[in-house]
Amino acid sequence: MIVGITKETCPGEHRVALVPEAAAGLTGLGLTVLVERGAGTVAGFPDSDYLERGAEVVEARADLFARADVILQVRTLGANPDAGRVDLDYMRAGQILIGAAEPLGDLAPLVDLADRGVTLYAMELMPRITRAQSMDILSSMATVAGYKAVLLAAEHLPRMFPLLMTAAGTVTPARVLVIGAGVAGLQAIATARRLGATVQAYDVRAAVREQIESLGAQFVELDIDAGDSEDSGGYAKAQDESFYDRQRTELGKVVAENDVVISTAAIPGKPSPLLITEEAVRAMSMGSIIVDLAAERGGNCALSKAGETVVEGGVQILAPLNLPATVPYHASQMYSHNIATFLKHLYDADEGIQCDMEDEITSSTLVARGGEIVHPRLLENVAKED
Ligand code: NAI
Repeated sequence: MIVGITKETCPGEHRVALVPEAAAGLTGLGLTVLVERGAGTVAGFPDSDYLERGAEVVEARADLFARADVILQVRTLGANPDAGRVDLDYMRAGQILIGAAEPLGDLAPLVDLADRGVTLYAMELMPRITRAQSMDILSSMATVAGYKAVLLAAEHLPRMFPLLMTAAGTVTPARVLVIGAGVAGLQAIATARRLGATVQAYDVRAAVREQIESLGAQFVELDIDAGDSEDSGGYAKAQDESFYDRQRTELGKVVAENDVVISTAAIPGKPSPLLITEEAVRAMSMGSIIVDLAAERGGNCALSKAGETVVEGGVQILAPLNLPATVPYHASQMYSHNIATFLKHLYDADEGIQCDMEDEITSSTLVARGGEIVHPRLLENVAKED
């Protein structure tokens, strides 16, 4: 079986889907790995490293598509709808495509892939179950984003993070508030602590208190009852508007006491809850920083503009997109581990790629096959559009 790794074409996407070490893992199983020339260069993985690990470097993208049975990408057409269009002509019926596909976004690119007969697996649909943890790109990339969000805040804040007692006087530590203590939030807490900040964190799920405290941060308790805030999967449940109103009011007071706010609050499959109002931003001291990681799905701050920095009353509100691509070496290493583990999960040495719909990992991630969209949740969306 031949596996192809393409150079990413989405502007600003510096990651590569498979790093040389993982390529060696696949060649060790008897698979042939083709890598488009320069695919890993920007991430810090030169072609020579792939060659040393038994992969073949291919000059022309069209050749790679023509030879490969399986294509691994960071961003498939679904997550790269403009530049990724070129690949559609290269693809053929029965070819397997694995990568991020933004399956809950615009359906049109996914339908185009299905019409082409491509078998598409979307990595974002990986179930958050224990045995799929090593294949979960949302978690691994959120870890990178949580880390980078704190570095961005530190770069923009006109203060230092740590406590310093020097001959030139004492510098007090920066005060950082992390809202939402899921994967990105916990990594943001750990990173801000490592830089020496005083960290507070808030989450609607009281169960995360212990994790917050074990990282050396203070758990913020608001005077509101979140009731039964967790669903059976351990995720936050969406709350009603009156809860969010009270939350915004109470949280606003805590926001005003901090120099930096990193917000990561998210509800699976829903727009992100609005938690920081314009008034709360105005109550912050001049020079304060908000990094809104939830901007892609509407944002936690009323003033966030996805991909932009807004300045209001001397407070900068950053709403960066695709932070993992700004740390491409390690983000690629982690993504690569996730995707290679998934490929091995699907692969059988005698039969090739198996599509066992009894298996939760396979059935949850399979989007298109045999010329059709097959994922039940997406089929509902197709029906709504018809
Ligand atoms: P997660 O689901 O692990 O964590 C979200 C947390 O928010 C949960 O702990 C949940 O309990 C909490 N939450 C939900 N509603 C809340 C509320 N009303 N108040 C306080 N907390 C609340 O999600 P993960 O993986 O940590 O991702 C966090 C966000 O970061 C997502 O919006 C994700 O899309 C975004 N992200 C952004 C990236 C970027 O480059 N901008 C890259 C990766 C992730």
